[in-house]
Order: sequence, then structure tokens, then C-alpha cells
Amino acid sequence: MSIKNAFYAQSGGVTSVINASACGVIQTARQHPDKIGTVYAGFNGIIGALKEELIDTSLESDAAIAALRHTPAGAFGSCRYKLKSLEQNKAEYERLIEVFKAHNIGYFFYNGGGDSQDTAYKVSQLGDQMGYPMVCVGVPKTVDNDLPITDTCPGFGSVAKYIAVSMREASFDVASMCSTSTKVFVLEVMGRHAGWIAAAGGLAADADNDIPLVILFPEVKFDQAKFLAKIDEKVKKHGYCSVVVSEGVKGADGKFLAEAGGTDAFGHAQLGGAAPVVANIVKEALGYKYHWAVADYLQRAARHIASKTDVDQAYAMGKAAVELAISGRSAVMPTIVRTSDSPYQWHVGHAELKDVANVEKMMPAEFISEDGFGITEACRRYLQPLIMGEDYPPYKNGLPDYVTMKKQMIAKKLAEFSI
Ligand code: F6P
Repeated sequence: MSIKNAFYAQSGGVTSVINASACGVIQTARQHPDKIGTVYAGFNGIIGALKEELIDTSLESDAAIAALRHTPAGAFGSCRYKLKSLEQNKAEYERLIEVFKAHNIGYFFYNGGGDSQDTAYKVSQLGDQMGYPMVCVGVPKTVDNDLPITDTCPGFGSVAKYIAVSMREASFDVASMCSTSTKVFVLEVMGRHAGWIAAAGGLAADADNDIPLVILFPEVKFDQAKFLAKIDEKVKKHGYCSVVVSEGVKGADGKFLAEAGGTDAFGHAQLGGAAPVVANIVKEALGYKYHWAVADYLQRAARHIASKTDVDQAYAMGKAAVELAISGRSAVMPTIVRTSDSPYQWHVGHAELKDVANVEKMMPAEFISEDGFGITEACRRYLQPLIMGEDYPPYKNGLPDYVTMKKQMIAKKLAEFSI
């Protein structure tokens, strides 16, 4: 039997460590030339497979692949594109098989969050439903930290660190200004439905840093009167207050505070704008001068302040995906299994893709303080180890020295396919 090639692709919103997973996949595959031939990376995720746009990673040097470990974002391009069910769009599945057959691809590695694991799961069904055997392994990733089963999702720990660091630093700033100027600082963070990133803002305050914080979680319906009372109380006591607002916060009417109108290909509302909404509510009711910021892509691209724990886990997930595949496992995703909070101890496990696809893990009630505006000790114990350690990229001319792939495509063998 000839050695099969592998398809690897990045999907959904990228992170500062998704390329560390790519590095884990490609380096590990290179160590097993007797099991896996060439790793082809999909140009822009699954779209690369559909359009037969396959990047030949064997043309990238070992040094370039190693540098992926410290390079943020998606080196091969990502996509928001969800495969429909086999019944709804058989042509797409037939096309995938055609492309995989044409290039002798027998391994499929898909690096993404819940929606992307759904794609991976659907592809894993191809063997049974369309008679094409495929070893299919998901690689977890999402800054939202909302995949089930795994202790955390690569990408989250680094965003958590960025947000905790930023909130602490901005709070020092406001504290200096508040007697004559700004009294409220609002930072908007990502996390469409789950408040994990917002919770990380809570780490800015600790026993040595008495920072007045208010956190608005998507899991807690926004109550304007209670919120204003909390802000006023903190400003009166400390002179200022810092607010972390999740982009996913919803008002009493069930609508996002930050709904910008429009949806993406996964059907998700385009968010962004909760911070100015919240800051204006404060200004109008209490008259306090404010500053607000939207962390947006800065938070998930911030490789310069990545968590070492997160980088190590992202790499480990890529490596484990290949190891699972060559040991014959399919329709699975490697996971992080926590065995101790302090010292943080974890090992690699795995979950069935059918149990991961489309399931969102929200913040449990015991992680949110009783008043709904803060994190509990249990939440702190969970979050703290995930931001531990620094893994600075190399710097050149005062800037991070990141790598750009050559992205050389293999020759197409098939007719065009439009999506
Ligand atoms: O993938 C998760 C995420 O980072 C969300 O937190 C955010 O709402 C979304 O992606 C943004 O997606 P896009 O980059 O497609 O606008």
C-alpha cells in the first residue's frame, strides 16, 4: 500500500498560537516518513481542499517550519466556511473525495473550534458514507475556550494573558488620572457566547493589586441599574473603576449590546461595539469621564505576550493529532487533561469528534461571583495556570521576527470547482 499524504488546514478565527499547532503537525509528520508522505496545507482552510489549492509544505525549510512556533495568525490562511450535511450538498463531498484521491491524501487534520470540528466530523464520515477511507483528526483551537471535554483550548491562554496584563496596566493608568480626569475605563473583549476571556480580565486584580473591576459576562443578562450602582460604588470607594465587557453581552431583550448587523458564513452575528455602548451608559447616568477600547484582533494576534503554557499545549495538540492518526485513530481530537491546578499538571488525552462538534462550553455558575460582576476563587484556580510563563519570539530591528510561508501550491489535476 502506498504511503498516503496528509491534508492540514486552519479554520475559523485564528490565534497567536495556531501556527504552533501547525508546527507540531508538520514536524511530527516529517519524523514519520514511513507513515505519512507530504503534508499539504489547505490554502484558506477547507476551501483549499475544495478548490484544489494545496500548499506543498515540503518546500518550506525545517527552519521556517520551526519558526511557525513563534509566529501568530494562520500561516496558510483560514476560513469561515461550514460544510453542509451530505444530503444538502453532496457535490462538495464528492469534490473533496475527488481532490483527496487525485493527490493520494489519506490523512485529514483540521485545526479549529466547534464549527470546524463539525467539519472535521463530517469529513470523518466520508469513509462510511462514500467509500473513501480517511483518517481524520481534529486539532483544537479557539480563543473563546468553548470546546467541551478539553481542559482548555489552545489560543485561549494567550488571550487571557493579554487581557489580564492589559487590564492591570490600563487600571494603573486610570488610577493616576482619576482625581482630575478619567474615572472609568472600559475594555471590550472577544468571546461570542462564552465569558472565558472576560473572566481572564479578573486576573488583573489580586492580593497585591487592589484594582476595582467590573466584568460583564455573556452568561449574565445585562442589568443596567445594577451595573450603574456597582460602578458608582467602586468609583466612590477607589476613585475609579475598570470594566471588562464581553462582546457577547446581551440586554434584557436578548439582543447583543454590540450587534453590528450582518452574520458570517457560520451564521454568527458580527459583533463589536459593546464598549462604547457601556461607556455611554455610564457617562449619561453618572457623568463620569471615560475611555474605552476594543481589544479586537490585537488580543488574539498578540504573540509577543503569549502564555508559554498555551504555546506548549498548542504544539502538543498538533503533535498528538499526528500520533493519533498514525496509530490508526480516526474521528477523534486530542485534548488537554488537567490533573492538578497547582502545580499545574496536564497530559494529552483524546475525545470523539461526534462529542465535540457544535458543543459550546460556557462558564459554569460557580466561576461567576454572586453579584454577577466578578470571578470566584474557583475560577481563578482554573485560569491562573493557563497564563503562566512567557515565550517571547525573537526580535529583529525592535520588532518580532515572524516567518511568512512561501505558500507554493502543487499543480492542479482537476477541473475548477466553484463554492
Ligand atoms: O473564533 C472566535 C472569535 O475570535 C470570536 O471571539 C470573535 O467573535 C470572532 O472570532 C471574530 O471572527 P472574525 O475574525 O471572522 O470576524
